[in-house]
Amino acid sequence: MARDRVILAYSGGLDTSVMVPWIGEKYNLDVVTFTCDLGQGEDIEKIKQKALKTGAVDAVALDARNLFVDLFVWPALMAGALYEGKYPLATALGRPLIAKLMVDVAREKGAKAVAHGCTGKGNDQVRFDCTFQTLAPDLQIIAPVREWKWTRDEEIKYAAKNNIQVEAKAESPYSVDQNIFGRSVEAGLLEDPWDEPPEEAYQWTNAAAKCPNDPEYIEIEFEHGRPIGLNGTKMDAVPLLEKLNQIGGKHGVGRIDHVENRLVGIKSREVYEAPAAVILHEAHRELESLCLSRQAMRFKTLVSQEYADLIYNGLWFSAFHQDLFQFVLSNQRFVKGIARVKLLKGRAAVVGRKSEYSLYSKKLATYETGDMFDHDAAKGFIRLHGLSQQTQAQRQLLKDGRGFDLPGLLSSDDKK
Ligand code: ARG
Repeated sequence: MARDRVILAYSGGLDTSVMVPWIGEKYNLDVVTFTCDLGQGEDIEKIKQKALKTGAVDAVALDARNLFVDLFVWPALMAGALYEGKYPLATALGRPLIAKLMVDVAREKGAKAVAHGCTGKGNDQVRFDCTFQTLAPDLQIIAPVREWKWTRDEEIKYAAKNNIQVEAKAESPYSVDQNIFGRSVEAGLLEDPWDEPPEEAYQWTNAAAKCPNDPEYIEIEFEHGRPIGLNGTKMDAVPLLEKLNQIGGKHGVGRIDHVENRLVGIKSREVYEAPAAVILHEAHRELESLCLSRQAMRFKTLVSQEYADLIYNGLWFSAFHQDLFQFVLSNQRFVKGIARVKLLKGRAAVVGRKSEYSLYSKKLATYETGDMFDHDAAKGFIRLHGLSQQTQAQRQLLKDGRGFDLPGLLSSDDKK
């Protein structure tokens, strides 16, 4: 009798390769692997072949780069979503898409279960499981690494017994995840937050000492808050990100050293490399400084934080996200123009910005001739602006000829 099927998120690494026979034995299921290209720089066809050699009954490989950028990366950028103000969320953005595509494959192949290689300590298991549970509550979720209590040696033994090839080169001491929006590195020598990350932890970016001595200027064009061109040429999303990763990496831009608060309650030290993400967030925010009103910018900071949290916490497929996204979409409708960015030795600094919707008015701002600002109006404005504070001081703070105490700074003894 034919066995039921499981769709396994398959990277081609040791863990997920060992899972193919293991799930077959332990759960009596036929394994169909799923691998997608999110711009991690690996050959998914080769990975698919490895899956079949490892005993998968079927293997699906999909190029999801455009979906990823258009539907996940750009909304996060438009929202200004940086987790704890630092992490551009590359890994966190990839998970809900992979899980959604796995659900589609499960339906197509009539599978009864889905499986992934996440540990029981990280955020990624939350993102996968929450997405599965939201989109397809009927599917059983299998997470072998959460179950098996193997040491590395035991795992390698099991691999050998099942004819799974183990890479000859020594495994990286780090746990790495990457896609087109960034590279996440944890564990190994990074676990002491006092220690500077070793140079070898970085693969996409030059150390400042190895960067070119001359700055490079680039111009990024945005429309509706989305990047659409580089240095005067319109570009599609994927090549644009690839190009920015390459130029930014050359100038050492995009290294992030972050002690972050995981959803599961622990602090974790992680290093990120995200040249394109860092450049784009900077450029985007600076363009917004021209195109958004003061209130819109203030309010947007709250939205950015909520947006980052919901991405980080695996709640992409929520009504709250839909609501926030509608705000972002509307909020970005005038974010159109160009930011000029100077790249030099690890830094991406926006040194110029312009927009046809700019709210900046030189006639109002200038200290030179041509000033149109109404200086007389300022006087009356200030009288009313300060009125309530003045009233309160008279009635409460300056009573009985007392001076104005700066709360907490001077004790009454000091005043004698
Ligand atoms: N800490 C990041 C996050 O939760 C990245 C985790 C990625 N995994 C890794 N093996 N480095 O989004």
